[in-house]
Amino acid sequence: MTTAEKLEGGLDTQQVISKEIAAIQAASPAAEPQPRLDFAPYRSSLLRHPTKDLRQADPEGAELVAPVFGQSDVDPLEADLTIQSGGEPIGERIVVTGRLVDGDGRPVRRQLVEIWHANAAGRYIHLRDQHPAPIDPNFTGTGRCLTDDEGVYSFTTIKPGPYPWHNHRNAWRPAHIHFSLFGTDFTQRMITQMYFPADPLFALDPIYQSITDPRVRERLVATYDHDLSQHDRLLGYRWDIVLTGAHATWTEPEGDDRA
Ligand SMILES: [Fe+2]
Repeated sequence: MTTAEKLEGGLDTQQVISKEIAAIQAASPAAEPQPRLDFAPYRSSLLRHPTKDLRQADPEGAELVAPVFGQSDVDPLEADLTIQSGGEPIGERIVVTGRLVDGDGRPVRRQLVEIWHANAAGRYIHLRDQHPAPIDPNFTGTGRCLTDDEGVYSFTTIKPGPYPWHNHRNAWRPAHIHFSLFGTDFTQRMITQMYFPADPLFALDPIYQSITDPRVRERLVATYDHDLSQHDRLLGYRWDIVLTGAHATWTEPEGDDRA
């Protein structure tokens, strides 16, 4: 690497990162279903990826000390992130809905689905997010719901903005919504990210590109669905989540913590 490829702060350029992504993907078998835990273009993954096998835990024992929730604790209003404060958040109002199914297409009912995402300006309410974009006083960025009898979840929110991170110089995450699925107990929690179609940042993002199989990557991208859009109100996106099987939606490995 030449010094010209490094800019101030010792951060690599997008060109360096993109070259590394291309080299890894060219060498990866297309069938590789999971991203590498230590994906070099995603710099911090080299230092903090799990290096040992998971420790097996007794699920019942874990539940004795884990938090518990009951169906009555989840208020249907928590699925609408546009009404949580005194006024409406700024941004493009959207609905994101889909089915949670197993590998055979059967609905997974009464699942706790949680989401969190940046506001329309790409800012989280979090101490470590200090980039100069405005915080929206009317937007917390968090919501949750239970799936219904057909395995359907639905959230009303605003479209998140892309945001910068310091993986390399001029690094921007594509707009995304974090999803958490609890499974049938707390030891089965799965976390993943949903993206929006045709985002120009996909090709540049080492987190998205750490999934080397393009078919698996594309399963993380929602579809615009005009039938979900509402006159004078909002735009609709559909994103189904498949928990198991050959067409499973990719979820983050245990111990991972993606931006
Ligand atoms: Fe994020």
